[in-house]
This record gives sequence, structure tokens and C-alpha cells, in this order.
Amino acid sequence: MNVTFFSSKPYDLTFFQQTNADFGFQLRFLKVPLDETTAELVTGSPVVCLFVNDQANAAVIRTLARQGVRLIVLRCAGFNNVDLDAARQAGIQVMRVPAYSPHSVAEHTLALILALNRKTHRAYNRVKEGNFALEGLMGFDLFGQTVGLLGLGKIGKVTARILGGFGCQLLAYDVVRDEEAEQLGIEYVSLPELLNRSDILTLHCPLTPETRHIINKDTLARMKKGVMLINTGRGALIDTQAVIESLKNGQVGYLGLDVYEEESHLFFEDLSNTIIQDDTFMRLLTFPNVLITGHQAFFTRNALQGIARTTCRNIQAFVEGKASGNEV
Ligand code: NAI
Repeated sequence: MNVTFFSSKPYDLTFFQQTNADFGFQLRFLKVPLDETTAELVTGSPVVCLFVNDQANAAVIRTLARQGVRLIVLRCAGFNNVDLDAARQAGIQVMRVPAYSPHSVAEHTLALILALNRKTHRAYNRVKEGNFALEGLMGFDLFGQTVGLLGLGKIGKVTARILGGFGCQLLAYDVVRDEEAEQLGIEYVSLPELLNRSDILTLHCPLTPETRHIINKDTLARMKKGVMLINTGRGALIDTQAVIESLKNGQVGYLGLDVYEEESHLFFEDLSNTIIQDDTFMRLLTFPNVLITGHQAFFTRNALQGIARTTCRNIQAFVEGKASGNEV
């Protein structure tokens, strides 16, 4: 079975080639992202493997179908970048990796919270330059802080468990109730209450039409003054212009992002020798209380091994005409 990868990076080759030793598929790695200009590159390959910023909109899906594609395997959990209706109409199956390592993203969420709070990114630079002054580095104890989890699925729950270890009070808002929440000491609240009571608010819901810009001018205004806002979910959960205004007037005291709504033009590439044209992103970088990573929360070797294995199993199920359980 021929499989064409889009947006492939050296680490994809490493992990997929290792895992594929047990499966024996013919893997073809393209560096370009999938979009309307690259979809025709798929030839003789019934399977395409996509990542978070590959764009499988209706037009792209139609081209893929014309090229003989029958299966899209996403090497990620989110599937907001695939037009599922168009895929169904074109007879293309879509599968994903619903769970690989929720720990990878949850632990990165903590890395952002801790770095923003204790300003370790700034302290690192100061100490390197022989500046041992503490002014501007003051943090707060996480113990006793109220943390709100917007979305209490796999990643939200692991994040909650870690935060429980710090002695935080945990609140959650989710459209579905999870029995485990009570054992974890999590109190379910409404969205307005979550916004109103959280000292730290962390986003772990998927990007859907309902959650797009769930953090906007109105919801930001309901938050505690000086709130710490963390997004390791999807960029478009936050209206970036609105959050910039809230940073300027102090309503948001700390912002930690691993995702950004216009990240597809930026992330996963070395742009250090170019002039970045995205003024909104560049404005975010000017705030001392904003910490951004380039969609790396998933990026642990454990997660990459898990992603490669589940993706190969998904393809194997397709080859055998069986359900993988990971269809979307
Ligand atoms: P999950 O499906 O286990 O949990 C998502 C939770 O969000 C569910 O409990 C669901 O009921 C809830 N939810 C859905 N719609 C909601 C709404 N309107 N309001 C409140 N809650 C809602 O997914 P998981 O594995 O926890 O991942 C969460 C998200 O994290 C993914 O959808 C993906 O976008 C993002 N992610 C980011 C990564 C990164 O590297 N930064 C890596 C992996 C996932």
C-alpha cells in the first residue's frame, strides 16, 4: 500500500520508518503542506497522511478523490482541518490518532504555566548575562490557586491530575460529564462561572464551530483581572485581537500559547532569516507576559512513537477492510 505524507519532517521519517518495519507499506514523504496547489502531487497513492496544518477543504478533497485517494490518515488528534462532509461525499475515509500521549500535551501545559509564573525564560537570559537581580521575576504559589479547565477530555484530565498534585482547586466546564471528575476532585461549573472564578484558565476542548473564538471580547471581560490564560488546544479557540486588547489593559495577566489561529503560515518552519508579515503575531511577541511555543506540546518521543503506531494500524485496518475504531 502506497502512502503519501504531506508536511513531513525528518522526525516523521525517523518514527514512521521505524514503525513501518512491522507493516511494510510504501511510504512517500513530501515536505510540502497539502493545499489546493499541492493536492495533485498524489499519484498512485490511495492513502494520504496529514498533519495539523494541512488543508483538506472541499476543493482539495475533490482533487484527492480524482487522484484515487480513498483514505486520509491524520497523524494527530484534531481533525478541524478536514472537511468531513466533502470526504464522505467523495467516498474518502478519514481516520485519526485520538489518543497518543495526553501526558505530552498536559506536561507542556504545565511547562507554560510554570515558566510564565516563575519567569524562567527571562531568568535564564539574565543569569547568562551575569544579571542576578530578582526585580520583575516574582511569581505566585500554585498551591491554592483556582484552575479552570475548558474541556475535560483525555488531556484535560491528565492536566487536572498534575495540577491536583500542586494543591490547586480544580474547576471544569465541558459539554459532557466524566465520572472520573469527582475522584479527581474537580467541580463542574457553567462556562460563565469557570471564567469568573479561575485564576488560571487552560483550554483543552477541540476546535469546532461552537468553540471557535470561545475566548473573545465578552468572555475575556468575564474573567478575573490578571488571569493566566493557556492555550495548548487549537489557535482559533482564541480571538487573538481581543486577547491583545486584554493584555494591553491588564485584564489578561499572563498568556501562554502553543497554538495560534494563523499558525499555518508560521509554525514548523525556520523563518529566522525572513521578515515575518503577521503583525498580530509580532505584537504578541512584544509582551513580556506572553510565552509562545510553536505547536510543540505533542512533541515527545513517546507521543511520536504512539502516533506512528496508531497511524500504521489505521492503514492496516483499511487494507484489511476492517474498522480501526479511529474513524471520524
Ligand atoms: P478529547 O476528545 O479527549 O477531549 C476534548 C473534550 O472537550 C471532551 O471532553 C469534549 O466533551 C470537550 N468539548 C467538546 N466541545 C466542547 C465545548 N463546546 N465546550 C466545552 N468542552 C467541549 O480530546 P483531547 O485528546 O483531550 O484533546 C483536546 C484537544 O487538544 C484536541 O482537540 C486538539 O485540538 C488539542 N491537541 C493539541 C496538541 C498540541 O500539540 N498542542 C496535541 C494534541 C491535541
